[in-house]
Amino acid sequence: MNASNQKQSVLVWDMPIRIFHWLLAISFAGAWLTSESEAQQMIHYAFGYSACILVLFRIIWGIVGTRYARFSQFIKGPAETIHHIKSLMTGSEHSGLGHNPAGALVMISLMILILLIGLTGYWSIKEFLGDVMSEAHETIANITLVVVVIHVAAAIIMSFLQKENLVKSMLSGKKEGTSDQAIRYPMYLLGALLAIAWVYSFYLIVGGSLPALTQ
Ligand code: HEM
Ligand code: HEM
Repeated sequence: MNASNQKQSVLVWDMPIRIFHWLLAISFAGAWLTSESEAQQMIHYAFGYSACILVLFRIIWGIVGTRYARFSQFIKGPAETIHHIKSLMTGSEHSGLGHNPAGALVMISLMILILLIGLTGYWSIKEFLGDVMSEAHETIANITLVVVVIHVAAAIIMSFLQKENLVKSMLSGKKEGTSDQAIRYPMYLLGALLAIAWVYSFYLIVGGSLPALTQ
């Protein structure tokens, strides 16, 4: 066995992906927790819109990002996805270090749902189509919560099946693999810029500096 195919801890998730993920989880939880209080309305909008900004960034990063960030790496056709789900049921493992095709479906659905929540939230404020948009907003938010619960449960179950803590990997960026499977650059600077952009957009919205979005 040479050094390149010996198992070790290798970098898979770059910094922008990890910052994206945990800020998205915080934004979703924050928007959820502030959704019913009128006093916290601006905080609700700020969390909600900053979640959408994160998803828009992730779409660009899915096209130009590092190896495992790219959509082409984990979005597979229906045949391959079904084959993957079947092999999960028979207990065989997903080979490769990126997202598995079934999980990827859930993750992409979450991103689309967040954008839809943002759009219907914006239209609710503009009182577009009467109550229709606020009804749609609440319904889509509830559906998203169900998908989030499935997503978190799947991450925990898959961690047991694969005998690798996937939640810890989303924090450290590392998984067990061979050196040729590692990504080369952690992209710390871009991760920091994304975090700053999130804080700045939150600050602008919560302070009412972007009235076109909140009035
Ligand atoms: C991840 C993001 C978001 C989540 C999970 C979320 C969730 C919710 C939920 C559950 C409600 C219903 C509260 C209730 O009355 O019981 C609500 C209400 C509302 N949300 Fe959001 N929201 C998000 C983002 C946004 C955004 C970006 C906006 C845009 C400004 C927005 C604007 C509103 C408005 C105006 C209402 C009140 C609707 C009405 O009853 O008239 N939300 N949101
Ligand atoms: C405590 C809660 C959460 C945990 C433990 C968790 C865990 C994870 C893990 C382990 C992965 C990587 C899966 C893999 O290895 O293939 C992942 C990816 C992902 N999660 Fe979560 N998640 C949580 C909350 C959320 C929330 C609230 C959202 C969205 C509303 C979300 C959206 C996503 C997305 C979009 C990805 C794909 C990441 C990417 O490729 O950029 N997660 N999550």
